[in-house]
Amino acid sequence: MKLLDGKKTSDEIKAEIVKEVLKMKNDGKKMPHLAAILVGENPASKIYVDNKLKDCHEVGFDSTIYKYPETISEKELLQSVEFLNKDDEVDGILVQLPLPKNISVDKIINSINPEKDVDGFHPINVGRMVLGIPKFLPATPYGIIKLLEKYKIETSGKNCVVIGRSNIVGTPLSIMLSRNAIFGNCTVTLCHSKTKNIKEICKTADIIVAAIGKPNFVTADMVKDGAVVIDVGTNRIESDETKSGTKLVGDVNFDEVFGKCSFITPVPGGVGPMTRAALLLNTLAASKR
Ligand code: GUN
Repeated sequence: MKLLDGKKTSDEIKAEIVKEVLKMKNDGKKMPHLAAILVGENPASKIYVDNKLKDCHEVGFDSTIYKYPETISEKELLQSVEFLNKDDEVDGILVQLPLPKNISVDKIINSINPEKDVDGFHPINVGRMVLGIPKFLPATPYGIIKLLEKYKIETSGKNCVVIGRSNIVGTPLSIMLSRNAIFGNCTVTLCHSKTKNIKEICKTADIIVAAIGKPNFVTADMVKDGAVVIDVGTNRIESDETKSGTKLVGDVNFDEVFGKCSFITPVPGGVGPMTRAALLLNTLAASKR
């Protein structure tokens, strides 16, 4: 078993971005600028957004955070997005999800200028991805593809099982892996809450992607010998192994599965850092528009 080291790979990508940023600086160009909108007090969302801004700082990008209370109206949030759409200083806009229930996620995402939609969530960018003419790929699937690329993992002709059909991870990744592309050409099965015989389906997989949000869901008996296992889960569970009384685990039971597979992503240190690196790549691309 070999670890797919997302931390090391994302550090390599960030080092390449720093080189480009320095070149842009030397050429007198403006720095890439990411604007992040955070609504409410969701602790996980706050950490995610803080980390995204920290990454920007680390590679020399400009960044701005717009924080709003849970009580912000949909109209006010739309106005905030519109303001950023018009601001030429801002290259990339992200609205951290989830949003409060009274706000339509679709309306907010549809209001982002597709040329600044560095999350790749706007229907135009989803359409571009489906047609194989991508502009911005959603960060987590993009990060996973970059990881497969860095470790030269063959995907062509492989059976890939994606567990979880979210708009952010499972659905776009299943499309990307099935496209006629270098890190594509898989035969993809997308499993979800209504799938029957999930264990048997997983056992046919050369590549398993677990993005279901259930701790330790994928067990050894679901994994074929030599499979590649990508764990997107970040679940905090109670633990007496740590001082805090909690620990982070993925959707894969790592201890059971790691002896069986050829490659596996750890949690933490696998897909998470790659997601963050992919957002930086999208912001850099947006700044070149
Ligand atoms: N919430 C969970 N993942 C994401 C993401 O990739 N982008 C945004 N905007 N919100 C999220």
